[in-house]
Amino acid sequence: MRALIVYESMYGNTHVIADRIGAGFQTEDQIRVVAVRDATADLVAWSDLLVVGGPTHAHSLSRKATRKGALDATLKPGSLLSMDPSAAGPGLRDWLSDLGSLHHKPAAAFDTRLDAPPIFTGRASKGIGHRLERSGATLIAEDESFLVNRENQLIAGEAERALRWGQTLAKTPVDVAGHLAETAPLAR
Ligand SMILES: Cc1cc2nc3c(=O)[nH]c(=O)nc-3n(C[C@H](O)[C@H](O)[C@H](O)COP(=O)(O)O)c2cc1C
Repeated sequence: MRALIVYESMYGNTHVIADRIGAGFQTEDQIRVVAVRDATADLVAWSDLLVVGGPTHAHSLSRKATRKGALDATLKPGSLLSMDPSAAGPGLRDWLSDLGSLHHKPAAAFDTRLDAPPIFTGRASKGIGHRLERSGATLIAEDESFLVNRENQLIAGEAERALRWGQTLAKTPVDVAGHLAETAPLAR
């Protein structure tokens, strides 16, 4: 299977999670883990499975203003935050709106967010999943969140959980024509 994992990340947490999801695939799988800016239409077309994730900002996907807010937070005196090399953009919101038809391509969505009930935090993965479906993708897994603390550090065990989530995705039967094999699409 050829799996493409696309991430947006301001402080590096979603980048780490994307890498761990990729590490969950089998050695015989071909895996590309790329930042949004490197996720070309050719790569999307190459993939049998498209996995997309980003940070939750203002309850949903980032916007230009929230990405600026993220940058500003790193510049505050005493801030321990630093920007991921990929953070300059573009964001997932624009990338997803420019996606052509995905023709039933198997896909899955994830996010990072604060460790609190989703009703308070929102979940970018929900919006990512909806946008993937609107482009014609078939979601093969429930949207998944990986949690950070108030200091924007991944909570212990989340990277390992991402690896296990990747392993689960890798085991989901997907045929090379880009359609789900032997599994029903998720009811949403
Ligand atoms: C401007 C801004 C807005 C945020 N809004 C939310 C939010 O509404 N809900 C939430 O759970 N986390 C929120 N967060 C925390 C982010 O989810 C967290 O920084 C992100 O998951 C870290 O991922 P990254 O290191 O890949 O950027 C916000 C962070 C920033 C910078």
